[in-house]
Parts: sequence; C-alpha cells; structure tokens
Amino acid sequence: MAEFRLPKNSRVKKGKAFKAPKGATNTKTISVYRWDPDDGENPRMDSYEVDLDSCGPMVLDALIKIKNEMDSTLTFRRSCREGVCGSCAMNIDGKNGLACTTGLDETKGDIGVNPLPHMEIIKDLVPDMTNFYAQYASIEPWLKTKSVAPPDSERLQSHEDRAKLDGLYECILCACCSTSCPSYWWNEDRYLGPAVLLQAYRWLVDSRDEYAGERLDQLEDPFRLYRCHTIMNCAQACPKGLNPAKAIAEVKKMMVERQG
Ligand code: SF4
Ligand code: SF4
Ligand code: FES
Repeated sequence: MAEFRLPKNSRVKKGKAFKAPKGATNTKTISVYRWDPDDGENPRMDSYEVDLDSCGPMVLDALIKIKNEMDSTLTFRRSCREGVCGSCAMNIDGKNGLACTTGLDETKGDIGVNPLPHMEIIKDLVPDMTNFYAQYASIEPWLKTKSVAPPDSERLQSHEDRAKLDGLYECILCACCSTSCPSYWWNEDRYLGPAVLLQAYRWLVDSRDEYAGERLDQLEDPFRLYRCHTIMNCAQACPKGLNPAKAIAEVKKMMVERQG
C-alpha cells in the first residue's frame, strides 16, 4: 500500500528553545533544522531568540551569532559572506536562497531555516553535494579545442560573442535552482538539473569552444536534458537573477537545429 507519511524516524520534531539574553528587547526567533547522523535521533527544529540589536542584518549573521553565542553545535556552510561562493545556500522561509544576501527584515515575524530540499543531509544545514558536483564534472566545464592555439595571443572573442556568455558566467553553482526543481527531485540520479544544464549551455555557446557537437551528443538522452518540463521554479529560485530554464530551452533548440 502506498505510504503518504514520512517514516517515523524521519519526522521532524519540536526541538530545544534558546532564549535571548536578559534585557534584550528587539528579538527575532529563528527556527533551524537540526539533524545529527551520530545521535540516532529524529530531525528536530530548534528555535533561537536572537537579539537583533547586537546582530548583523542578514540571515547568515544570525546563524553565525547563534553558533558563536548560543549553540556551538549548529552546523552550516559559508565562506564569502557576499553572494559569490554559493556555499550558504539553504531554504529560508520556504524559498531557496543565500543566507548571506537574505535580510532578516525580509520576513515579518519568525524565520524558518531548512537545508536545500530533497538532498541527502550530512548534518543540520549541510547537504551532500557529491552528486551535484559529479554531474557538473560530467559536462566537462572547461574550454575544449581541436585547433592549434595562436602562438602569440590568447584565443580571442568578439564583443558580440563575449556578450553571449552574459547571464551564464555569473552562476555560482549554489544549487538553489536544481533543488527547487521537481524534475530534479524525482530524478536527480539521471536528470542533470537546471544548474548543470545552464553550465552546459555556457560552454556550448562559447565561440572559442570547438566541441559543441560532442557536448550535444552527451546531452542527447531522455533523462539528462529532456526531464525539464519548463516548470520555471529554477528561474524564480536563482539568487543571481539567472534563468536556467531559458538556457535549457536554448540547448533543446541547438539539438533541433543540428538535425535540420
Ligand atoms: S524549468 Fe526545467 S529545470 Fe527549471 S524548474 Fe522547471 S523542470 Fe526544472
Ligand atoms: S543558476 Fe542560479 S540558482 Fe542555479 S546554481 Fe547558478 S547561481 Fe545558483
Ligand atoms: S557565504 Fe558565499 S554566497 Fe553566502
């Protein structure tokens, strides 16, 4: 019989509540998903009352404050704290985004923080990105050429050809798009997902790359490319304002054009 509830050991329970220090008058409660692979317990939502008067403005500032001052066991990834490394991607109040560029004031009232959806979790807010990175490696994301390089210059590009990379090169591989895509949720082992397909298009459209035919051959597969059903969640989720669905549509167009 079909089971529509999570198995018992996966149900998220109410966790501990950490109060703000005495005297704090301007506070916000952040509920955070907690799961430790070593304690054998169910996942839980711990809540932290953060003193906003001694906290930076972003969700990441609050997480760092919680870890430094309230609960050092909280685990999350971050590096650049300015929206360029992609490592602080998580689900904030139901929307995938970067904790370092999402303001605490973007949500009225309490904030719920969860890991990126539908990923294996290593601990707390840290998803396992192994499959995602392996898929990225599979598209060979580097310039591939057959011709001999010019002896005394780089491989040059016209301004027009360079402009074709706009809207693609800015991708920081945060996976906010792929983990918001229903097709990727159900087929992440075989469908490459919006982030990796956007990257595939970035190399297909690069005027200096000479392996477009082989790259298209690699994508010509009922799952790798064609699981995109243009649901468009990906474009809404991208914190850099990119449109992976459009890039995927361009790849599909290239597939058709080469048959003509
Ligand atoms: S447009 Fe395609 S890649 Fe984007 S969310 Fe929808 S199915 Fe996924
Ligand atoms: S396209 Fe946007 S959401 Fe997707 S990985 Fe790149 S930066 Fe992140
Ligand atoms: S910490 Fe680098 S993108 Fe947020």
